[in-house]
Order: sequence, then C-alpha cells, then structure tokens
Amino acid sequence: MVIKPKVRGFVCVTAHPAGCAAHVQEQIDYVKSKGSLAKGPKKVLVIGASTGYGLASRISAAFGSGAATIGVFFERPSDPDKPATPGWYNSAAFTAAAKKAGLYARNFNGDAFSDAVKQEVLAAIKQDLGQVDLVVYSLASPRRTHPKTGVTHKSVLKPVGQTYTNKTVDTDKGIVSTVTIEPASEAEIADTTAVMGGEDWEMWINALDEAKLLAPGATSVAYSYIGPELTWPVYKNGTIGLAKNDLERAAKSINATLKLNGYGRAFISVNKALVTQASSAIPVVPLYISMLYKVMKAKGTHEGCIEQIDRLFRTQMYGGQGLVFDDAGRVRIDDWEMEPDVQAAVAKIWPEVTTENLPALTDIAGYREEFLKLFGFGLPGIDYEADINPHVELGG
Ligand code: NAI
Repeated sequence: MVIKPKVRGFVCVTAHPAGCAAHVQEQIDYVKSKGSLAKGPKKVLVIGASTGYGLASRISAAFGSGAATIGVFFERPSDPDKPATPGWYNSAAFTAAAKKAGLYARNFNGDAFSDAVKQEVLAAIKQDLGQVDLVVYSLASPRRTHPKTGVTHKSVLKPVGQTYTNKTVDTDKGIVSTVTIEPASEAEIADTTAVMGGEDWEMWINALDEAKLLAPGATSVAYSYIGPELTWPVYKNGTIGLAKNDLERAAKSINATLKLNGYGRAFISVNKALVTQASSAIPVVPLYISMLYKVMKAKGTHEGCIEQIDRLFRTQMYGGQGLVFDDAGRVRIDDWEMEPDVQAAVAKIWPEVTTENLPALTDIAGYREEFLKLFGFGLPGIDYEADINPHVELGG
C-alpha cells in the first residue's frame, strides 16, 4: 500500500513504517553522536515507551549506556488495509536496532494501568533482568480503567474554577481563532487526576518493590510541564495541572519508598513543551509551541524529545552536576524554554498573531513538519510514493 498522511484535526490517522523507523534512527544517531554514558542506567523499564518522551528515554538508555530495556505501551497493530499506529512502528524499529546492537529489548503492548500487564512485566523482569535500576513513567492517556474498582475515568483538558478564553490555532488549517473553555466539574477534575495523576505510578513502584525487583539505588522519574502564565488556566492551573500536582505528591511518596530500598530516588522532571500526540490535543498550547519554536530556533536553543532526555541523562541524572532541584523539589529541563528573554519574545508575539501573519510570526511550518514526523512523514530518504507493507512485526 502507498501510505500518505491523513490528518483529521489534531491527529493523523495513518503512519508510515519506514518513516517511523527513520525517525527512530535519527534519535539513535543523535544519542550515539554524544558518546557513551559510562555511568548511565543498565536495566530500564519505560512505561509509555513508544512515542514522545518515553521513546526518547528508552533510546537514551539503550544507545547511551547500553541498557537492557523493557517497554510498555498501548498501540494498534496494522490491519490488511490500515497502517499500525506510529508507536507500533517506532517500537518495532527500536527493537530491531537494539537487537542488532546486541541489546536486550522486550515489549509489552497492553494497558499499563491494568494489574495483568503489571504482572506480566514483573515476571519478565524477574526472569530476564533480575532487577531494574531505572523506571521511567511517561504515560499520556485520555482514559484509565481503575484496576481495583473497574471504573473507567476519562481525562479532560479544562480550566478549573473559571471560564478561560484565549487564542488557539487549528494547526492543520492554519486558522487562528478564539476558544472559550468552560470550567471542569468536580467529577471531571477527579477523573483527570485518576488518569494523569500519580496513583498508577505508585502502583507500579509498589508492585516492583514488593517483588524485590528494584535494584539498590534505583531511580524513577516521571515527566511534567509548567509553561508560561498564558497557558496556566488550561495547563498548570487546569485539570491536567492538578493531576500533575498529584504526580508530584506521588514522587515524594515513591522517593520515600526508594530511599528505604537502598537509597534510591524518585523525582519529577519538568520538560519542555514539544509537539507530541499528547500535546497536540491541548487547546492553546500548539499556538504557544509554534511561537516557542520560532524564538528558540532563532536563539539556537531549540530541542526535541531526544535532545531533552539526552541532556537530562548526561547533565543531571547520570553525569555532570547531578540532580538540581527547584524550590518545589523538581528537576527543570525546561530551563531554556523558561529563560526570561524567550518568554518575553513569545509574550510579544502572542497578542499580535492572526491567521494572516501566522506563517511569518510563528514557526507553524516547523510545527507541522514535527507533527507529520511523529507519524513517519517527511523524513529524508524515504520514498513516499513506493508501495510498502503496513504489516511489521513488533519483535521483542
Ligand atoms: P505521547 O502521547 O507521545 O506518549 C504517550 C505514551 O503512553 C505512548 O507510549 C503510549 O503508547 C503510552 N500509553 C498511553 N496509554 C497507555 C496505556 N493505557 N497503557 C500503556 N501505554 C499507554 O506523550 P508525551 O507527550 O511523550 O507525554 C509523556 C509524558 O511527558 C506525559 O506525562 C506528559 O504530560 C509529559 N510531558 C509532555 C510534554 C509535551 O510537550 N509533550 C511536556 C512536558 C511533559
């Protein structure tokens, strides 16, 4: 089949296997170009390993310090007439590259929130690795079926306590408009915290701890976002922000668990706003990202997921100065995004942007390029007119 992008709003419903493989290879090449990370992790579990920050974490661990990795994710394989999701192709490509490099890589495609997947992963760690020294928690999901109650919670991206009105962009059509979002109900706030908060991360760590599968000194990290004040009503102070507060609560409790278990540690890394499948679904944020890219590219400080995680590993987690915490005990790898001159430049563009000047004032073109790349489109060296088999074995 010839596979072309089919963009529907903020998703692309097709993905290109060879393009996704090339995208993974770019990230592997980046990590390798930085040299090996002698003190890096060796046995790693990544929950949410197939796209975005989780995939970058898996690649950084495997190709930075030769780590054995177990990846957990929720992706759809191909049908005879429909390509798989990009995370499927990414994971297949990662696994093939890891095996070629002589690295252990095993995949679990299923619901990370369920007890069944946790038990399968625990059994694999016990059998194949003995213990893990790093657990990366990088899930971004619209829903979670609670393993104890059976209730399915759905997350929403809404302000809390007040209506929020701001500019937003239809990234596909390039139309800037005003969006008004009504505040979330108490039930929606609780549901979003149930999905994107810290309970599931705690369940994973407790299960690993009870089964004695955490190595002495094991680290666990989960990712969060803060961003500029203009997005706070829909992010930091919105339903997702409250869920992230719960993730921070969980980090403290997990840190205490890991400390008992041989001086391990758990923390939150606040990362940069980037184009991923998760972030493209948030109102207002894509418009901010397209301005941020413009400003940071001009300044020479723009990074993607792999650059962010590679820097987190090399300069804080496994080298350099060690972990540096902000006043709230979080690691800030969003430091370059939050530099005052960068934020001032974005704040200047914000009131001026319209549909007409969007291409000139923002990097909407770069946004679209990155977005399509998430699905394997626009990669150099790929013949997008060629017939390609959508069926790819996951491996591992
Ligand atoms: P993403 O959408 O690229 O990746 C999400 C991952 O979770 C995928 O591997 C997916 O398969 C997996 N997943 C979703 N539901 C699952 C389930 N039920 N069971 C197993 N796996 C499941 O998301 P992204 O953007 O990389 O987000 C990861 C984390 O980073 C999130 O906590 C997000 O809030 C955080 N973050 C994202 C930023 C951004 O701008 N994209 C900025 C800062 C933090």
